[in-house]
Amino acid sequence: MKLSKFGEKLTAKTGILELMEDLGNALHGKQKMLMLGGGNPARIPEVETVWRNRMEKILKNKDEYERMLGLYTTPQGDDEFMKAIALLFNNKYGWNITKENVCVLGGSQMTFFFLFNMIAGKFSNGNHKKILLPLVPEYIGYADQGIEGGIFTANKPILEYLDDHTFKYFIDFKSLSVTSNIAAICVSRPTNPTGNVVTDEEVQKLYKLAKQNNIPLIKDNAYGIPFPGIIFTKSTPFWDENIIYVMSLSKLGLPSTRTSIVIAKPEVVKNLSSINAIVHLSTATVGQHLVTPLIQSGEILHISQKTIKPFYEKKAKSAIEYFHKQMNNSSIPYYLHKAEGALFLWLWCKDLPITSYQFYQRLKKQHVLVVPGEYFFPGFDESWKHTRECIRITYSQDKAIVLEGLKSIANELKSVYK
Ligand SMILES: Cc1ncc(COP(=O)(O)O)c(C=O)c1O
Repeated sequence: MKLSKFGEKLTAKTGILELMEDLGNALHGKQKMLMLGGGNPARIPEVETVWRNRMEKILKNKDEYERMLGLYTTPQGDDEFMKAIALLFNNKYGWNITKENVCVLGGSQMTFFFLFNMIAGKFSNGNHKKILLPLVPEYIGYADQGIEGGIFTANKPILEYLDDHTFKYFIDFKSLSVTSNIAAICVSRPTNPTGNVVTDEEVQKLYKLAKQNNIPLIKDNAYGIPFPGIIFTKSTPFWDENIIYVMSLSKLGLPSTRTSIVIAKPEVVKNLSSINAIVHLSTATVGQHLVTPLIQSGEILHISQKTIKPFYEKKAKSAIEYFHKQMNNSSIPYYLHKAEGALFLWLWCKDLPITSYQFYQRLKKQHVLVVPGEYFFPGFDESWKHTRECIRITYSQDKAIVLEGLKSIANELKSVYK
């Protein structure tokens, strides 16, 4: 079949396709695979019970189930859900938003596709604009989203060693410049793949930079506060009309509901709703319907803080301790990024004798799936060997799987450096 430019772009072999195929095969395939690669949230029994109870209540309540499944919403989202979201943020953080600031879409992956292509790429006056990623590594899922191609530009971070085997990235503001071809600044917080949490101070600086240049700051809050709240350091959410705040229900344990929430100025909400009408017609209701009462009551904050956050924090801590133990005082110059949130460990193997892609392939042969680091540098054109020295390891799966996987990674690492 002859493909259009759009067809060619979206059917090419991409990192995200390989990742999702790996994930699907590992979770549903016959061969044993230790899945330390994807971003699937963990199954947390207390949280699963909450969603099960909600569904049972819906099933028992007159025709609520039929209404949930049988009605299209507007392309902006479900009225009750959007009002509940606005109220939650106003009550909890003193934001001053209304339903007109809220848009509900089919997951944040789709949201970013809409957003990036809406504001970056080719303009009718011939200009070409880009999204600035102020710090890479950054989320693999952004990489191939530009229909135009070349819509990202990215800044090299500062690396700070925190101890013998721990480091953290910071934004290098000295080298960060916003030129006239930048359409927006975008950052995930916590960051996928590293678990980094850009500090409140860094966010303020980014916000000022965006405002001075009259462009939006896009904050990808897939793991952030107030929900799902997988963030282990101090972080204060703030919003004004210059910020596009993107959230998702996925990491609340509801990835299959494909539901995301955008909080932005009404003009952005209107534009996104228009795109949604063309591409998706309406917004999926199941997630919104399941979650609305918990947003109205504030229980969603409680679940995030008291159950989800401690669950992941404990898992991260035990995975890190176990990995160091497996490395057993080895002289290999390996470093884990400080785990400040999200579901991942980011392993940097300094002066790795092979590329991280080759390392990934070696691990795959050992039935361990990780994600090679080079995919996480969208828009970064400099030659920097660090980009080929890292892998992303997910610690959200069952403990036995994670520990067995980490053991194999440590053993393989030792054999690579031999
Ligand atoms: C940082 C980040 N943004 C966005 C997404 C997309 O999430 P979803 O489409 O499930 O809402 C993910 C998924 O893992 C992510 O890690």
